Amino acid sequence: MNLSNAVALVTGGSSGIGRAIARSLTEAGARVAITGRDKAKLEEAARELGAFAIQADVAVEADVERTFGQVMAKFGDLDILVNNAGIGTFKPLVEMDTTAFERVFATNVTGVMMMGREAARIFSARKRGNIVNICSTAGLRGGTNGTAYYASKFAVRGMTECWRAELRKHNIRVMLVNPSEVVTDFFAANGLQQNVNDSKLRGEEIASAVKAILEMDDRGFVPELSVFATNPID
Ligand SMILES: NC(=O)c1ccc[n+]([C@@H]2O[C@H](COP(=O)([O-])OP(=O)(O)OC[C@H]3O[C@@H](n4cnc5c(N)ncnc54)[C@H](OP(=O)(O)O)[C@@H]3O)[C@@H](O)[C@H]2O)c1
Repeated sequence: MNLSNAVALVTGGSSGIGRAIARSLTEAGARVAITGRDKAKLEEAARELGAFAIQADVAVEADVERTFGQVMAKFGDLDILVNNAGIGTFKPLVEMDTTAFERVFATNVTGVMMMGREAARIFSARKRGNIVNICSTAGLRGGTNGTAYYASKFAVRGMTECWRAELRKHNIRVMLVNPSEVVTDFFAANGLQQNVNDSKLRGEEIASAVKAILEMDDRGFVPELSVFATNPID
């Protein structure tokens, strides 16, 4: 597709990977809306990116519906949904509590589903569109302390396969991108410590992968793409 003038909606576009994706899409000439819950952080990012800010929580159904209403009111169309907003909680199974577990699933699974559903309604009617789900290499295999986060990403991967089966006949490309570890605020925001150095992935590498798969001619699509650091040193 041609990104020039395309309309893209990036959830969690106020930070990290989503912000880098929003930047690469605006630089390619797309009109971009970004969402996030923290208003000040969102507005600062929107100003810097030249994007349209929509304060919304993907886990709240009314916010999801309002998000699409605001995008259509502002731009009158939608070509791309990047389902990127995500959170985590990392605890051993024996310490897992249902509140933390359900909070992760509300954003990473129910939120992704509701955003995908609203986009699919628009895209099915216009017979074309693009959904990029930002999953994780945590969705490819299990690991310690991964009960909530890893399982939520397995669910994203499963939903993506279902949407692809349902939506392909409407010319909707449903794509999954699995970043390995990326240096962002995710770790601090979710109770983890991250060792930062230049060997690790940045949001820019993920943004470059997303831009590349979107730019492929619409007759083709990349179902799934994993991105690893070449020689990460922790
Ligand atoms: N960093 C990594 O190593 C890594 C690796 C693989 C996959 N990922 C995935 O990549 C995605 C982005 O992560 P990141 O590393 O860029 O994290 P980040 O820097 O913490 O950014 C997360 C973004 O999502 C927003 N967000 C969180 N919950 C939300 C909600 N319920 N509704 C709307 N917005 C919400 C945040 O803004 P507010 O807090 O203001 O809402 C923020 O803009 C996530 O899905 C994550 O699982 C990250």
